Amino acid sequence: MFSIGQAKPGVQLKAASRIEQDQKQPLSSPPPKPEDGPQTQAPFKAGRSPDLSTRARKILRRLANIARFGVGEGGRARKRAAKVAAREAAFDTETWQHQSDLAQRSYASYAEYLEHQSSKLSQVEHRLHETYEVDLAEFRRRFADCEPLREARNVLCLAARLGTEVRALHDLGFFAVGIDLNPGKDNDCVLKGDFHHLVFPDGTVDAVYCNSLDHVMDLEKLLGEIDRVLRSGGLFVADLLQGFEEGFTPGRFESMIWRNREEFIQEIAQRSGFDVVEVRDLGHHRRDNWAQVVFRKGGPECTSPTTT
Ligand SMILES: C[S@@+](CC[C@H](N)C(=O)[O-])C[C@H]1O[C@@H](n2cnc3c(N)ncnc32)[C@H](O)[C@@H]1O
Repeated sequence: MFSIGQAKPGVQLKAASRIEQDQKQPLSSPPPKPEDGPQTQAPFKAGRSPDLSTRARKILRRLANIARFGVGEGGRARKRAAKVAAREAAFDTETWQHQSDLAQRSYASYAEYLEHQSSKLSQVEHRLHETYEVDLAEFRRRFADCEPLREARNVLCLAARLGTEVRALHDLGFFAVGIDLNPGKDNDCVLKGDFHHLVFPDGTVDAVYCNSLDHVMDLEKLLGEIDRVLRSGGLFVADLLQGFEEGFTPGRFESMIWRNREEFIQEIAQRSGFDVVEVRDLGHHRRDNWAQVVFRKGGPECTSPTTT
């Protein structure tokens, strides 16, 4: 088993890089990734100012937090501690089925999983407006620093929600498109779809990107679909949170969490048959610690699209 500080043979390991902006994020800011749900609100537009009801909700939330936790650094610390305690308590309940290496949220049916996963956007959309520029810059940094990705021309982004990662890839000159159960209204970067059932033909994609493996219901099925759509030699780039034994506690929408990130990387490699090309420590983005893993699908013609 290799670790993120210790490359296995053939695996290129890079030093952590972290954007200064992230370090300046207030400690009480929302979770790292943007989050999801149905769209009862106005469509997301980058840089748009929040409307009156969004501002009013925000003020009410702040007042409620001040009443509950107090003000200043002490208040923020109490709020953080309360959130952590609530997450830990929830993770210990029967909501989660703990297996040896993974924990899965219990759903009565696949339909319930789809409904739950689709239900988040309306609850967090206001936050996405506030964090859009920082999130876009973070995605640009993650992709620009990912050397193996330079050989790809097209990238399919799984669970891309409003498409911030897709826009970052466009900024860097890639053809990219996302899919998400709930892409919101009028999304010109993300198609509606389930990543367990991709609509794209076999062997057509240079690279698949996903930062949401913690929202998977059926890992086997997902990896099968990624394998199917990737061309020989294609890349699967996965940004992964830490495992639950390493300090990550799931919130209200995660559906699957791994015990330990390094072991999970090996499990993906084993189940998919992909090779691990590179593991990079991405540092913290807001609350969480991230690593980027690049897997490569093998095959008889393991060539880059620029090679003829
Ligand atoms: C934490 S968000 C990440 C969104 C986006 N990648 C980002 O960083 O802004 C997780 C996303 O996974 C989506 N999702 C959950 N299950 C899915 C599925 N089976 N197929 C496609 N998208 C799914 C949710 O709708 C949600 O938008």
